[in-house]
Amino acid sequence: MRITETADLWYKNAIIYCIDVETYLDSSGDGTGDLHGVTQRIDYLAEIGVNCLWLMPFYPSPRRDNGYDIADMYGVDPRYGDHGDLVELIRVAHDRGIRVIADLVINHTSDQHPWFKAARRSKDSPSRDYYVWRADDPGDTSEQTMFPDEEDGIWTYDERTGEWYLHHFLHTQPDLNTANPQVRDEIAKMMGFWLQLGLDGFRVDAVPFAINQETLLGHDEHEFEEPHDYLRALRGFLQRRASGQGSAVMLGEVNLPHEEQLDFFGGAEGDQLTMQFDFFTNQRLFLAMARHEAAPLAEALSSRPALGVEPQYANFLRNHDELTLDLLSEDERNEVLGAFAPEEQMRFAGRGLRRRLPGMFEGDPRRLKMAYSLLFTLPGTPVLFYGEEIGMGENLEVPGREAVRTPMQWTAGKNAGFSTAKPSALSREVTQGAFGPEHVNAAEARRDQDSLLHHITRLAKRYRESPELGWGACSIIQTGVSEVLAHQLSWEGKTMVLLHNLGPEPTVADFTLEDQQSGTILMDLLSDESCRLDRSSSSRMPLGGYGYRWLRVVGENDHRLL
Ligand code: NOJ
Repeated sequence: MRITETADLWYKNAIIYCIDVETYLDSSGDGTGDLHGVTQRIDYLAEIGVNCLWLMPFYPSPRRDNGYDIADMYGVDPRYGDHGDLVELIRVAHDRGIRVIADLVINHTSDQHPWFKAARRSKDSPSRDYYVWRADDPGDTSEQTMFPDEEDGIWTYDERTGEWYLHHFLHTQPDLNTANPQVRDEIAKMMGFWLQLGLDGFRVDAVPFAINQETLLGHDEHEFEEPHDYLRALRGFLQRRASGQGSAVMLGEVNLPHEEQLDFFGGAEGDQLTMQFDFFTNQRLFLAMARHEAAPLAEALSSRPALGVEPQYANFLRNHDELTLDLLSEDERNEVLGAFAPEEQMRFAGRGLRRRLPGMFEGDPRRLKMAYSLLFTLPGTPVLFYGEEIGMGENLEVPGREAVRTPMQWTAGKNAGFSTAKPSALSREVTQGAFGPEHVNAAEARRDQDSLLHHITRLAKRYRESPELGWGACSIIQTGVSEVLAHQLSWEGKTMVLLHNLGPEPTVADFTLEDQQSGTILMDLLSDESCRLDRSSSSRMPLGGYGYRWLRVVGENDHRLL
């Protein structure tokens, strides 16, 4: 690997942190978080080791879907500030070595977007074909909607023009007709605009929907041979526009099995999405944790297709949505729900749960620390959702997915230190109870060396020092203990061995590293319990309940600071 490549492909061992501007920090005292608030916390994030911020939609929006229903793709919601505030944020972040990406929503707009307002005024409107219409009754499409609790189907009848329009999400989020070259030009122009303001790329929303056959094919103006050509075109545009600032990324939301994800990377060419969230491994990981058994996760990692130099998997535990379990079988899904969401109100749309990790683990700090250790050692790039680093819980009083989008808990004081406004003026309620700010907040976590915050900061530091984790090839090591996941990551002759006990009881993991010599040192990167492989290149490694070890295989020529 040449150094020029490792430096340019910064995202291969980045630490990404997702922020909802609405709930992060309110610097103006009006009850709503804002961009300037985020800027004030960049040093906090740099201290953790975060080096890429993902800003959730900050564009003007009626917010029927937390900002994913955009009314102006070029704007900044005035409640959050203005373009100047965004540029300041990006500048300060860059100054601290932190890149900034933002949500790019190409599948739909808000029904309040001027294009859609004009489109539904008349069939002759110039923007009519920016959306997908049909004249015949679509029948029952209730199986296809992403929001079965709120929508009856994916087509809504428009009284004025007497046709149905497509929307995979809310009926207030009409799907764009990405087959229309004018729409594609508009999207490219908008990407160019934000790149010019300094963004380092995008988290691309709902990718499979945006290039689905229904939308892209069957239209006369369709000029691509197949839908993925559109992703290729977007990536090509991004590369050309961002060539002056290192590689910009398209981190795609593609909730599909691994084999299908490959198509979205562009197969061997790697010319589509730069990164993708690994939903499949995420769901197998939760199944493994529910069972206290490594096998489901080990199988997911073993069967995960290897990628070329440029593409990358992004790993996560929780995100801003429900923890979706839709790639599991019904029985498996019920197992996870039974273990982590025993009450109906903890579940979402029959397919997932609206909880954060600490609630799911009943606050067990050992299990939480193990889970984050696992996150940082899954081959790929870790992504944190704001508040995870301090162990924030959910607020089940808040409806839907907003339960996990409560204000960041900075202090034990008024409004969790999020805002100086009257509590009744807050745009979202602060979490109460066992995970409320009096028990969980960043200020106290900073003072407590044993806190989750310090744990994650240590993991982040070791992760950044260990290119095997971001770049390496993964193989599973057998230990004979069903609770233990043991895996090895190797890159350019360097190897790490990672052990995680998914069970609550202490155990001993026996393993052999076939390709290492006896006497080789296994340097423990998180404690002072390093050891050597015995004569048969084996080791007996004790692990506490929910214990974990990060072991670097120290070769003769390893000159790293260990
Ligand atoms: C995925 C986003 O993560 C989710 O929050 C949103 O509702 C849908 N895409 C629609 O934009």
